[in-house]
Amino acid sequence: MIELEGLTKHYGDKVAVDHLTFTVRPGIITGFLGPNGAGKSTTMRMMLDLDNPTSGTVRIDGKHYRQLEDPLTYIGALLEAKAVHGGRSAANHLLCLAQSNGIPRGRVGEVLEMVGLSSVARKRAKGFSLGMGQRLGIAAALLGDPQVLLFDEPVNGLDPEGIHWIRNLMKHLAAQGRTVFVSSHLMSEMALTADHLVVIGQGRLMADTSMKDFIHQNSRSYVRMRSPEQQKLLDVLRAEGIHAAAAGGGALEIDGVPAERLGELAAAHHLTLHELSPQQASLEEAFMRLTAGSVEYHAHNGEPVPVPTTAVPAAPQPAGARPGEPQPTGWGTDWQRKRS
Ligand SMILES: Nc1ncnc2c1ncn2[C@@H]1O[C@H](COP(=O)(O)OP(=O)(O)OP(=O)(O)O)[C@@H](O)[C@H]1O
Ligand SMILES: [Mg+2]
Repeated sequence: MIELEGLTKHYGDKVAVDHLTFTVRPGIITGFLGPNGAGKSTTMRMMLDLDNPTSGTVRIDGKHYRQLEDPLTYIGALLEAKAVHGGRSAANHLLCLAQSNGIPRGRVGEVLEMVGLSSVARKRAKGFSLGMGQRLGIAAALLGDPQVLLFDEPVNGLDPEGIHWIRNLMKHLAAQGRTVFVSSHLMSEMALTADHLVVIGQGRLMADTSMKDFIHQNSRSYVRMRSPEQQKLLDVLRAEGIHAAAAGGGALEIDGVPAERLGELAAAHHLTLHELSPQQASLEEAFMRLTAGSVEYHAHNGEPVPVPTTAVPAAPQPAGARPGEPQPTGWGTDWQRKRS
């Protein structure tokens, strides 16, 4: 379990994460969504003690990250696939992590097998493709057989087989009772993967709800009807006080009336129907609807430009530009940083 309480991060004037309070529960996959720059990666870095919160706390199974002994055996993470020393082979990279976390060396071969990299175990990581790098990052996350797993954009660069594989892997891990927290911008993939969603915009919590409720609450649901006797159907609906809007292809769209009632009405009047289908918006539509007001970077004539918001100016600052902030080192965890 991961528990956040009032978690906040400022970078100078920029409020990257703003009083986030939520719990990521075990046994399910929790999707972490938000527009670019919403604060997802910053939140995940604070979970791993790679960034210090300005205020608030985050606990992993009741403890702060720095209180965890052999942290890889509690929490595994893929934050940045390129966070590997390019001169090391895949096997050696994992071996370094294993040895410094009290993990038996035999586990290295096991996780390489799990992610499909056994045949390139001795190859240097700098020659890896984007997808191979992602797989190596996932192997590192699984190395300590942890109960809590974080994945920041894990399907980035994976081929369709790889995407399918990681979806099943995450489901399998959650079914074993583990806590799985994953961010992605691929909404169709998220809709197939996550049970629960946490959505943030400009660092603030916008939703913490089941996938089903999220789509239901943030989208329009209606029924589509098509009939070769459209005029008669319209008359029947009108007589019942039901408003139908004409849609393309001879279809009608009806809000707020269950499909069952519409079907029974048509049957009672011996009307032929070619279509009677309840429609629910996709996760993508629901997400865009909820976060429309908190998107900081809109494309404009092909150029991304910051959109003025009520929040503080959104100009991105270079990583590590502020004195006193931890510098991203290209390594995955605080513990790894100390070892490098
Ligand atoms: N080290 C840093 N120094 C200064 N500002 C930072 C730093 N890291 C992140 N930020 C700012 O904090 C905000 C949140 O960034 P973050 O990377 O957490 O967003 P994100 O939700 O992961 O976005 P994306 O979907 O694009 O990955 C951004 O405005 C970013 O510019
Ligand atoms: Mg990010």
